[in-house]
Amino acid sequence: MSKKTISPGGAIDGVAELPGDKSISHRYAILAALAEGRSEISNYASSADCASTLECLRRLGVAIESADRRVAITGAGLAGLKAPRKMLDAENSGSTMRMLAGVLAGQPFTSTLTGDDSLRRRPMRRVIEPLEQMGAQIASRDGGRAPLEIRGGPLRAIDYTPPAPSAQVKSAILLAGLYANGISTVRESVATRDHTELALREFGANVESTRGVIRIHPGPKLKARQLTVPGDLSGGVFLIGAALILPESSLMLHNVGLNPTRARVLDFLISLGASINIASVQLRDGELVGDIAVRHAPLTGGRVSGSQVAEMIDELPMLAALGPFTEKGIEIRDAQELRVKESDRIAALAAGLRQMGAKVEEFPDGMFVEGRSAGKLRGARVDPHGDHRIAMALAVAALGAEGDTTIRDADCAAVSFPEFFTTLARLRG
Ligand code: S3P
Repeated sequence: MSKKTISPGGAIDGVAELPGDKSISHRYAILAALAEGRSEISNYASSADCASTLECLRRLGVAIESADRRVAITGAGLAGLKAPRKMLDAENSGSTMRMLAGVLAGQPFTSTLTGDDSLRRRPMRRVIEPLEQMGAQIASRDGGRAPLEIRGGPLRAIDYTPPAPSAQVKSAILLAGLYANGISTVRESVATRDHTELALREFGANVESTRGVIRIHPGPKLKARQLTVPGDLSGGVFLIGAALILPESSLMLHNVGLNPTRARVLDFLISLGASINIASVQLRDGELVGDIAVRHAPLTGGRVSGSQVAEMIDELPMLAALGPFTEKGIEIRDAQELRVKESDRIAALAAGLRQMGAKVEEFPDGMFVEGRSAGKLRGARVDPHGDHRIAMALAVAALGAEGDTTIRDADCAAVSFPEFFTTLARLRG
C-alpha cells in the first residue's frame, strides 16, 4: 500500500470522463450472468469492487471476457449457475456480497461468500433476515457477519419492509424474487437508488415500482443486452469538491450518471451556492446521463438529515471535507449508517479532519464540521482507515490546507476510483 502526498493550491481546469458507475456496473454484470445470450457492457467500472463481482460470477461458471472497460458476459440463464468449488470472495465490496446473497438464495446448491477484514466486520443480518424468510438457509459468523454459507433452494415470495433504507437489501430481495413462487414486494419509506429496478427492466424482467412499493414477478427469462454504464457521479463529486475549494477552478465532466436517486448531492451543493450547470441530459439504457460544469464559488454551509442521508449516503464524506471551506460549516445527522460502511466513516473523517486542524463535533449519528471561522486547515499525516471514500475526501480537504498532507495507504481509492489521483493531478496541470 502506498501513501500519497498532496500539496495544496492551484486550480482545477479541464475536462474529465469518469469511470463507469460502480453501482450500475455490479447490477449489469449480475443480470447479464443470469440472462440468456451474450451481453456487452461498455464503460464497465474500473473499480476493484466491480472486478470482485466479475470474479465471483466466474466462480459460478459464467464466461466473462473483459478488456479496456468492455465486458462481454455469456449468461448462464436463471437456472444455469454452477456450484462454486471455492469460496466467493467479495473482497471490500458490500454490494457484491449483499446482491449475490440474493441470487445465491435461489440456487439449488450451497455456496459461501466471504470478504476482506472490513467486509467481514460489516452487518449482514439485514440480508440474512429477508432471504431466510424466503426459505434460504444462511449460516453466518457471530449471528450476522461474513463468511455467509448460503444453502439456496426454492423460494417463497415475501412482502418486506426493510428496517432501514438500503438499496443493497432491496436489490438482494428483488434478485431472490426472480426465483420465488410468486410476486415479491419491497416497501421503502425512504427512496434508495433504483438502479436494480431499472436494470431488471432493461434485461426483460417484470418489475413494477410505484411510490415506494416495488414488486418483482418471477418468471420471464432475462435477455442479453448491450449497455453502456454512465460515469460515476459518486467518484466525480470528489473532483467537484476540489473545483469548489480551489479558486479559479473550472471543471467539465462528461457522460455522468444523473439518476435522481443519486444526483441529490448536486442540488444540495447548489443550495450552498455552488456554481453547477447540467447540460445534454438524455436517457440511455433507462438511466439519465448528462454533462456537469462546475466553477469555483464560495459556499455557505448547511445540514444533511432525514431522507437526504440515503440520497447522498456515498457523498457524505466529501461534504464533510468541504465543511472547513464553507461559511457556516456542514452538519450531518441521522447518518448512523456511516459507522458501518467500509470504515466507521464518522470516526475516520473526524480523526482525519481534526488532524488537519478542523473543529469537528462527533455525534452517534453524524458530525458537525465547523466552517471557515474555525481557521485554516494545515497539512498533516492522515489515515483513511483503508476506506476509498475517506482517502479521496481527505485529499480534497488537503487541497485547501496550508502545507502538504500525506495520506497513508491512499491507493485504497482504487476500490471505487483507481484513476482519482492521476485525474486530479492532470486537472491541476
Ligand atoms: C449501494 C448502496 C449503498 C451505497 C453503496 C452502494 C448500491 O449502500 O452506500 O456504496 O450499489 O446499492 P446501502 O444500500 O447499504 O445503503
